[in-house]
Amino acid sequence: MNEESLRAALGSLPLDGLRFYQTIGSTNDAALAWAAEGTRDLSVIFAEEQTHGRGRGKRQWITSPESSLAFSLVLHPVGVETVIIPLYSALGALAVSQALESAGLHPQIKWPNDVLLNRKKVCGVLAESVWSGEKVGGVVLGIGVNVQLGSVPPQETLLFPATCIESEVGHPMDRVSILRDILSMLIKWRPALGSKDFIRAWEQRLAFKGEWVAISSEGKPVSSGRVIGLEEDGGLCLEDDTGKIVSVQFGEVSLRPVV
Ligand code: ATP
Ligand code: BTN
Repeated sequence: MNEESLRAALGSLPLDGLRFYQTIGSTNDAALAWAAEGTRDLSVIFAEEQTHGRGRGKRQWITSPESSLAFSLVLHPVGVETVIIPLYSALGALAVSQALESAGLHPQIKWPNDVLLNRKKVCGVLAESVWSGEKVGGVVLGIGVNVQLGSVPPQETLLFPATCIESEVGHPMDRVSILRDILSMLIKWRPALGSKDFIRAWEQRLAFKGEWVAISSEGKPVSSGRVIGLEEDGGLCLEDDTGKIVSVQFGEVSLRPVV
């Protein structure tokens, strides 16, 4: 992929700006800096390789050269969008899921922000706020997708099993078309952020439904239970062993199936 082919493939989308890098530290860092310079809504930074890709906290996201998708969007929330910032990572996960469905796959969303294929992580989403004084002036939505075989990091370096699209689909895939599909889905779902339809579409794809999961925060157990579904606000709804319904809110929490 090069800048020209990327621009050509995304030309029909209503993007404001597009920056292409062969190698970058982190597209989220670059997008945060771009947002601070005042770039407009729906600007995209794409990189063929990240040397310091980030997940939440200090965790690393590995992007091997020319085999994945790593990109970040600068979004300027308007109206109701401003009060539902945590839902942006779900927006990314939903858009990626629908793009993969159009390739015949059956993705699931590991609450709140990862996309799985066959219970293995194929995509991570990192939404970060851009502060303007005391207000959120923007959101940077970073998405990393493993596409080709070389994109999957060695399993022993990971905290959760990983896969890539080509392993699951069994044939080569065009990265730019996947990227275009993800961005189209994202643009389609954005006006419905937080709506009943949005939560329903997310819930339909929720991973580990009916299974027992453990929730931890900074390595410490927080709660556990059987996955029931989503709350109206996108929180995770579990049922504990006494039959009590427990609601898990967004935050620095990790979900793991208990086998
Ligand atoms: P958790 O793993 O705690 O559920 P998370 O899935 O949201 O949280 P982060 O906390 O954002 O993930 O951290 C990123 C995680 O992604 C790291 O733990 C790392 O093991 C994993 N990872 C890094 N690169 C890749 C990749 N290319 N494919 C799959 N997983 C990756
Ligand atoms: C996660 O694993 O939960 C989040 C990973 C997010 C990775 C993407 S790749 C593009 C963007 N740039 C980054 O540094 N992180 C995000």
